Formats: sequence, C-alpha cells, structure tokens
Amino acid sequence: MKLIFLGPPGAGKGTMAKRLAKDRKIAHISTGDLFREAIARESELGLEVKAIIERGDLVPDSLTIQLVAERIKAGDCAGGFILDGFPRTIGQAEALEKLVGVDAAVNFGLSDEELVRRLSGRRLCPACGRTFHVDFMPPQVPDLCDSCGAGLIVRKDDQIDSIRNRLSVYQKQTEPLIGFYSRRGLLKNVDGAPAPEAVFSALKKTLALP
Ligand code: AP5
Repeated sequence: MKLIFLGPPGAGKGTMAKRLAKDRKIAHISTGDLFREAIARESELGLEVKAIIERGDLVPDSLTIQLVAERIKAGDCAGGFILDGFPRTIGQAEALEKLVGVDAAVNFGLSDEELVRRLSGRRLCPACGRTFHVDFMPPQVPDLCDSCGAGLIVRKDDQIDSIRNRLSVYQKQTEPLIGFYSRRGLLKNVDGAPAPEAVFSALKKTLALP
C-alpha cells in the first residue's frame, strides 16, 4: 500500500501516519522529520534548510524531490509506505508521478483556529521523535517523553509568526494538490477534528482496511 497524507500543518498527518505505518507494517516517510534530522546532524542539507524551515517556508522542490527519490529506494519501502508532508507543490506531485504510483491521497481537514491550537500546544521529543500536545495528548510527566524520558521541546516553526506563515504557504502552494489528486480519482477526505482514536477509525474505514 502506497499512500500520500495531505493536509495543512497541524492537521494530524504525522500522528496518523505513525499509527497506520505501525498497524500495516509499512514505512513512514516524513519529509519534515528527514529535514529536522539533517538539521540536528548539521549536515550540508541541514545547514541549507535550517532557516527556511524555521521561517515556515518550503524547501526548494529540487532538494525535496531528490531526498524522497532516494528514500523510497530503501528496502523498508518495498512493502509500501506513507508519504507524510510530500508532495507539497504541484511540481513535487508531478515528479512523484514519474517515480512511483500511489493507491490514494488522504486529505486531513481542520479549521484554522484548531490548527493554531494544535501547533502552539505541540511538544516534540528530540530524542525519539514522539509528539505530544499539552492539552490533547499530554505526557504522563510534564515536559518529559513517555517513551524515552528525554526533555520535550517546542519546534522553532511552532512559534506563532511561523505558524501563520506556514498556513499561508499551505493555502498558496499545497492546497492545489487537493484538485490535482481529485482529478486523478485518488483523493480521500478525512475529518481531522475528532479525537485521535476516532480519526484513526475513520481513516481505516476510508481506506477499506480491517
Ligand atoms: P512538517 O514536519 O511536515 O510539518 P507540517 O506539514 O507543517 O506538519 P506538522 O508536522 O506541523 O503537522 P501534522 O499534520 O503532522 O500534525 P501532528 O500529527 O504533528 O514540515 C516542516 C517543514 O519542513 C515545512 O514547513 C517545510 O519547511 C519543510 N518541508 C517538509 N516537507 C516539505 C516538502 N514536501 N516540500 C518543501 N518543504 C518541506 O499533530 C499536531 C499536534 O496536534 C500534535 O501536538 C498532536 O499531538 C496533536 N494532535 C494530532 N491529532 C490530534 C487529534 N485528532 N486530536 C487532538 N490533537 C491531535
């Protein structure tokens, strides 16, 4: 099964992708995570994209397409994958079509007001990548990761100015992908507003999974 997860920043793509990838035993490819890992390693790519990501702008298509093209060649993608946050522009979607076919593009919808609440309350474990929310998915001990005990952080691009920029970038550059995949008969819509358990059930139902 090869899936694309679309939707505005904070709609729950990453939360659902991690869960479905585990459930189906397929690879989870988050371009945002790949870029953050490169930044943490201070690799050439990381140094190139750090400021772009902190502002909430998009990394140039050429870099992003190359990263994904390499990643989907890895052995763990042979049985299927979820692309979380890629493609994000029409150029990326056209490049992906030349690389590999997909079974569906799932679009998670959420109001702007709720997106801002989700992003401003998000906490990230820098060690294992697990995501929490101060109100909706709080860790058992405040500010510590339930899985590995590391101190949780706020992503630099979850500051309010960057959030507003990301929402505007999404509307201009990524929202057109809804029409792109709808015209190809691949689009599936999932309401991202309910609690995580209900969103996950709706996702499986939409994809006709047991
Ligand atoms: P990326 O990391 O992909 O960020 P994003 O798309 O902005 O998505 P988010 O990770 O912010 O949100 P999400 O939808 O995954 O929500 P989450 O599940 O975490 O990209 C970061 C940056 O990298 C981009 O801005 C860009 O610069 C660059 N980049 C990445 N891909 C690129 C590309 N293809 N091209 C160019 N540049 C690219 O949930 C959010 C919060 O809500 C969490 O706290 C979570 O716990 C909580 N939550 C989740 N679901 C629920 C629920 N159902 N109910 C209550 N709370 C919930």
